[in-house]
Amino acid sequence: MARRRQIYEGKAKTLFEGPEPNTIVQYFKDDATAGNGAKSGVIHGKGVLNNCISELLMQRLGELGIKTHFIRRLNMREQLVHAVEIIPLEVVIRNVVAGSLAKRFGLEEGARLPRPLIEFYYKSDALGDPLVSEEHITTFEWACPHDLDEICAQSMRINDYLCGLFAGVGIQLVDFKLEFGRLWEGEEMRIVLADEISPDNCRLWDMRTQEKLDKDRFRRDLGGVEEAYQEVARRLGIMPEG
Ligand code: C5P
Repeated sequence: MARRRQIYEGKAKTLFEGPEPNTIVQYFKDDATAGNGAKSGVIHGKGVLNNCISELLMQRLGELGIKTHFIRRLNMREQLVHAVEIIPLEVVIRNVVAGSLAKRFGLEEGARLPRPLIEFYYKSDALGDPLVSEEHITTFEWACPHDLDEICAQSMRINDYLCGLFAGVGIQLVDFKLEFGRLWEGEEMRIVLADEISPDNCRLWDMRTQEKLDKDRFRRDLGGVEEAYQEVARRLGIMPEG
């Protein structure tokens, strides 16, 4: 097959021009980075697992009425998605204190928050993805108040659904990161869920043992990284070959 034109190479994914107009092929790599590129490595088989995990979660969310960029999985490492205009925000939803929230406020990891907390980070490798407020977002016109309301409403619905889905397989959804984009359908614009949902951008703890089943195993040199990703896929009922 003719090599497709590469549009963008990210840390964990490469994007190629899709076979149909306004589509993109997302290729999932095994490469992993942490600390804004300070640490890098390879998690063998991660691309295949994340492709399949993200497919399952995006499909389920779609069935729930959440609009996503996902069209279909093409093969073990690639999926076809709608080309969207990415909103330059990392939307983090937290149910339990962990990671940078614990650090910023001097809190112990593991305390349940009284309600889900939503945070926004401005997507900029050069600036180290700074935490921003809704005021920054609307002032710099990364999103208008209406779009931001939509992003918050969708994020909360996604959180509710994913908490239940993971709880059903004995996993606590501690926190996760989402990205949204604008999809144009004629004159109409819709905010849709983009990027991926996988153990790369979720904190997933075993409910019984509190064992970490996500990228923190790589970030914190805990070992058993591949096994953790495989365990998530296994519990979700997907353990692809290859
Ligand atoms: O590091 P922090 O505690 O802010 O991360 C919150 C959540 O967002 C974690 O689930 C992490 O995996 C995710 N995240 C991400 N990409 C980033 C920063 C955080 O997927 N650049």
